[in-house]
Amino acid sequence: MKILGIETSCDETGVAVYDKKENIILTEQIFTQASKHAEYGGVVPELASRDHIPKLLPLITMALNEAKLSSKDLDGIAYTSGPGLRGPLLTGAALAHSLGLGWNKPCVGINHMEAHLLVNLLERPPPIFPFLTLLISGGHCLLIKATDIGKYEILGQTRDDAVGEAFDKVAKLLGLNYPGGPEIEKMAKQGNPLSFDLPRPMTKKDNLDFSFSGLKTAVYYLVKKQKNINTEFIANISASFQNAVSETLVKKCNTALLTQNLSQLVVGGGVAANQYIRDAFRRELNGVDLFFPKPERCTDNGAMVAVAGSYRIQGAELETSIKIRPRWSLSEI
Ligand code: KG4
Ligand code: ZN
Repeated sequence: MKILGIETSCDETGVAVYDKKENIILTEQIFTQASKHAEYGGVVPELASRDHIPKLLPLITMALNEAKLSSKDLDGIAYTSGPGLRGPLLTGAALAHSLGLGWNKPCVGINHMEAHLLVNLLERPPPIFPFLTLLISGGHCLLIKATDIGKYEILGQTRDDAVGEAFDKVAKLLGLNYPGGPEIEKMAKQGNPLSFDLPRPMTKKDNLDFSFSGLKTAVYYLVKKQKNINTEFIANISASFQNAVSETLVKKCNTALLTQNLSQLVVGGGVAANQYIRDAFRRELNGVDLFFPKPERCTDNGAMVAVAGSYRIQGAELETSIKIRPRWSLSEI
């Protein structure tokens, strides 16, 4: 079975074809709009929607040509139908349905967070259900017990900012570019993670929820107090912030693994591309089987939608109209 995946939930236009039998991605293309949004310090939904439109078809054509595939080789089309930004979601959904009609292929809307989770099944060997999943992206911070495809129990989530959002906001406070995560990671390499004593939010509590707005506010006051915001200061704040985030994430995952009696942890979403955080998990969680997608499959991409589509298209009720769900919780699947 070969599925075309289309991702347009935010500012990444991603397309890919997944071959389920071989469990490989045959071809993929991505266009990132980040530089366009950087001058505004965050994603502008209207600009994001407009930019997906001229990119989608050429990217799909390039991907199919690269793998010497034609529409006849495809068994279905999967697109992200939520959660995400309404306008960008509509562009992908409308094109997926048009192609479905034109090519006479079934079409299925995918939950973006489920796609971030299921992309890990591309790993060799893949994680085996049940496993713990930490999804850390620009819009979400979720701790999930995954017992099967579509069976997800949310154990904890953020009460305010998502992790990626906190990275982006702290980067903005420090005068760094959008998206802030990679910028902070780069600056942190020159800094000392112990230079500022930042809070580890909610780590003393037994529950598995997260909170990152206090950490961001702590950085805000340090920046406000600082007279000379030079490279050394930015590097030290970046390193201390990244360290506080990674300690918090590791601690919560450790608690969840113990209380749920699980031995595999799957980490996904854009922040999972962060090497410092990946190293902290490897160092601190001895005896736990850890799964991280390739860094380029942590941030939004078409491959994750194609993989999720391959599990959703069989037996799914065929869609006859465009469906988008900008607020679609994993627990509603
Ligand atoms: O999963 P994703 O591409 O989009 C959403 O679904 O939100 O995640 C984007 C988020 C952004 O907040 C970005 O700053 C963050 O992931 N991010 C990172 C890194 N790369 C991307 N955060 C920390 N370190 C990184 N290397
Ligand atoms: Zn995402």
